[in-house]
Amino acid sequence: MGPPLFAFVYTSEMRGHGDSTTETNWSGDWTAIKSLIPYFMEFRGRVVLALVFLLLAKLANVMIPFAMKHIVDALDSNQSQIIAVPVAFLVLYGVLRLGTILFGEIRDTIFGRVTERAMHSIGLKLFKHLHALDLDFHLSRRTGGMARDIERGTNGINFLMRFMLFNIVPTLLEITLIAVILFVNYSPWYALIIVVAVVLYIAYSVVLTERRTSIVRQMNKMDNQTNTRAIDSLLNFETVKYFGNENYEAEQYDQNLTGWEQARARNRLSMAALNSGQALVIAASITAIMTMAAYDVSNGKMTLGDLVLVNAYMMQLFIPLNFLGFVYREIKKSLADIEHMFSLLGKQSSIKDKEEAGELILNGGDIRFDKVSFYYKEDRQILKQVSFDIPAGKKVAVVGPSGAGKSTLARLLFRFYDVDSGSITINNQDVRDLTQQSLRAAIGVVPQDTVLFNNTIYYNIAYGRPDASREDIEQATRLAHLDQFITQLPQGYETLVGERGLKVSGGEKQRIAIARMLLKNPGIMVFDEATSSLDSNSEQAILEALREVAESNTTLVIAHRLSTVVDADNIVVLDKGCVVEQGSHASLLKQDGVYAGLWEMQKREATQTDAPAILADA
Ligand SMILES: Nc1ncnc2c1ncn2[C@@H]1O[C@H](COP(=O)(O)OP(=O)(O)OP(=O)(O)O)[C@@H](O)[C@H]1O
Ligand SMILES: [Mg+2]
Repeated sequence: MGPPLFAFVYTSEMRGHGDSTTETNWSGDWTAIKSLIPYFMEFRGRVVLALVFLLLAKLANVMIPFAMKHIVDALDSNQSQIIAVPVAFLVLYGVLRLGTILFGEIRDTIFGRVTERAMHSIGLKLFKHLHALDLDFHLSRRTGGMARDIERGTNGINFLMRFMLFNIVPTLLEITLIAVILFVNYSPWYALIIVVAVVLYIAYSVVLTERRTSIVRQMNKMDNQTNTRAIDSLLNFETVKYFGNENYEAEQYDQNLTGWEQARARNRLSMAALNSGQALVIAASITAIMTMAAYDVSNGKMTLGDLVLVNAYMMQLFIPLNFLGFVYREIKKSLADIEHMFSLLGKQSSIKDKEEAGELILNGGDIRFDKVSFYYKEDRQILKQVSFDIPAGKKVAVVGPSGAGKSTLARLLFRFYDVDSGSITINNQDVRDLTQQSLRAAIGVVPQDTVLFNNTIYYNIAYGRPDASREDIEQATRLAHLDQFITQLPQGYETLVGERGLKVSGGEKQRIAIARMLLKNPGIMVFDEATSSLDSNSEQAILEALREVAESNTTLVIAHRLSTVVDADNIVVLDKGCVVEQGSHASLLKQDGVYAGLWEMQKREATQTDAPAILADA
């Protein structure tokens, strides 16, 4: 179950055609079925009832040719006194036809709930599970693809139930019933021909469908590439324009489309082979049986009605069989999708609460980084033996060049990752010994890159504490200096921020993030370049407001612009993952080291230009 599978399913759905690959992976199929069973056991009664109605519908269906036979025989007979007989059989015929449909509908109604409930509970379970997985999983995964995994998996369940239970099983049942009827009432030859024809038909369909797999897979791969290319190109609309590369994009798309076209043609050819072969089996067996029947009628061994009956059975049999190739393929695909979905459920988070994990007791929030070492990937150490304290209620700043590992420190404190050696403690409680829930409830983060929900400004601020009152939200808005901006907007708080918040400016986004963090009102606050997109005046105003709010909070500030952290109780200078200096602003200047150098440089830039902050940042 690698990426190719992933790829082709995507496209087969996007384009709305039923073709897909069929992996020959029976054990995987069985695993998928097994994992589904518990969800259906919940509704045992309904399942059994649905099966009863399924049986009734099939029985009615199998009786129809009998009614027809009697009608034909009655009309054919020369004795005219039995006019009443066809009426009775005509009524029976009508009732049976109605019964077939009606029982089928009842069966669907009863069973529908079961499928939907299973889809509901599996979907919810997955959603919760995905939120429980670690950040690393989400960073290395395409969210769009994952959403489609879930969608495909749940759709797969629906399809599997509809067709496995209501197409394959009933068709097999019907074939058996018909073979028995023919065997008992007529010559065993009829039964034999039918059984042989069905076996041939199924074998041919399965073999050819398996053979077509690679063709179908190729087609879907092309399909996928074409789509991905087109979507990626359109998503990068601005970049395409900036570089005037419209023609280049069109050429690439054209190439992809050519490949796609060829693959489709090959697929159509193999499809034609499949359909022709099936038609051959059907035609040959029907001809054989009808010849035998005609012969028997002329011999007087059978009535005309019998011939009609046999013909009707043949028709009845091959109609559902016609779908077999398609259903077989789709069922295989559904099973693969379901297995894929369940494999997501099997993924374990590397960040887990310990069994004996306790609640964080904040009590001021003394934070200590003790010889913390960390890497994302083994081949590259990010933090090396980093040690510093943030005493309760104090403000500590971390400064240093880009890529030094500053944001990583915040991620470790929030426990998106675990340290490799050393420890991070809050009030002497190791963050690894705490429940993630209690740890994260105590920490508020304004991240370096704020992403907003595609909703209103109000919604995005209120997200900090969904049960907050309007007054609280307005208060937070004022503190983050957002109120002026919001009153300017025609729709005010109800303004939509666009996907990922792209319809508000960088500085506005940062202030929304600050407002919602203030609304959360946590004991520990982390600002990661929280005001980097603001002009100096707005920045100073917000910092002033935050200083008051943060009076009693333990605060970690990450910044490039040193002017924003001069008032910090302690400044940690981080370079290439190591703490190179730390101390107060004054003492660091006195040391005349890295910090003093940076300070001099930023000061010089500030005096040389009118826009000091922006340059100092670069
Ligand atoms: N998920 C990740 N997987 C692998 N490497 C990562 C990951 N996240 C960050 N890094 C790397 O770790 C290093 C430190 O990243 P970090 O975000 O902590 O830097 P920073 O000091 O905050 O830089 P900046 O000032 O540019 O924000 C960087 O070189 C970055 O490429
Ligand atoms: Mg950073």
